[in-house]
Amino acid sequence: MTLILGIETSCDETAAAVLADGRHLLSNIVASQVDLHRQYGGVFPEMASRQHVLAIIPVVEQALAGAQIGWPDLAAVAVTQGPGLAGSLLVGMNAAKGMAWAQGLPLVAVNHLEGHIYSNWIEAEGNRADKTFPVLVLIVSGGHTELVLMQDHGRYQRLGGTIDDAAGEAFDKVARLLGLGYPGGPAVQVAAQSGDPAAFRLPRAWLPGTHDFSFSGLKTAVLRAVQKLEGGTPAASRRLTAGEHLPSEAVADLAASFQQAVVDVLVRKTVQAAEEVKASEICVCGGVSANALLRQTMMANSPVPVSVPPFYLCTDNAAMIAAAGYYRWQGGVRSPLSLDVIANLGLVDE
Ligand code: KG4
Ligand code: ZN
Repeated sequence: MTLILGIETSCDETAAAVLADGRHLLSNIVASQVDLHRQYGGVFPEMASRQHVLAIIPVVEQALAGAQIGWPDLAAVAVTQGPGLAGSLLVGMNAAKGMAWAQGLPLVAVNHLEGHIYSNWIEAEGNRADKTFPVLVLIVSGGHTELVLMQDHGRYQRLGGTIDDAAGEAFDKVARLLGLGYPGGPAVQVAAQSGDPAAFRLPRAWLPGTHDFSFSGLKTAVLRAVQKLEGGTPAASRRLTAGEHLPSEAVADLAASFQQAVVDVLVRKTVQAAEEVKASEICVCGGVSANALLRQTMMANSPVPVSVPPFYLCTDNAAMIAAAGYYRWQGGVRSPLSLDVIANLGLVDE
């Protein structure tokens, strides 16, 4: 049995996990800073780094204790190298280096997006690790929206992605417009439950002939609708916090119409791409893959099997870093202790 310790600190979650053979989760600790950042309406980078410094050692200790293992049982330490906030990434990277060096373990650097992808290989709630390539992956997080074709482990071909806002970013901005608070995605989903998805005719950017996405026009259309409902006052354009004064039915209808527009585009373009490249399976991952409408609609419309991680592995966690780290470790990757973090690390080396 190969045990990998995963460490993730790229944004506002301090996380550590122990994974066996790249698929069996033995422990998964996530210390969320969401309450700390809520007062700022988003992640405050310096606060995030300081909080990681406080949390990282106890979180790793809890992950080892939860898995009922000690350092000598581990084969490697896998850690997120990027993309993410540099100051946050550095805390996890330096902790991982120190632990690997002190314990004589190999260090394995992992791309955060690769981590999200491998959340689908962890065996939980029906997900299997034995997937049939080629696999088409839709990554939908706060910072990324990417369609990636995987021909094998560690082989990524980027088919397309957002040309402006990421899907999660659009959820977060629309939540602010509607006065729904932070984090935006779950709040929009809850508000949408009592709304009519056909109440507002919002645009869908199909960008035909490409595998790209665009969500900024949709966000602007929501802003215009909010302004109209508020009687044309310029408050909504001054700051994206206008929606507090809207009737709750209008907020629910706008949330539902927006969510439907995002899901329509994500699903139709992913299914089209899967047919075009003859993918055997579709994997959806990243924070937005926690969205219930996206999960249901993708499963209902895909001609091939669809995997989505269990909810607790959709948003940032270290189990996914350990999973990606396992396949890199198996492929012979051993990272030097001189390694630096890369805030804008891309998934594909082009
Ligand atoms: O993957 P993640 O935890 O962090 C990044 O790597 O960015 O994704 C966070 C994003 C946020 O934008 C959040 O609003 C979105 O995922 N999100 C959701 C839902 N849960 C989280 N978006 C829509 N519906 C959800 N239920
Ligand atoms: Zn993420």
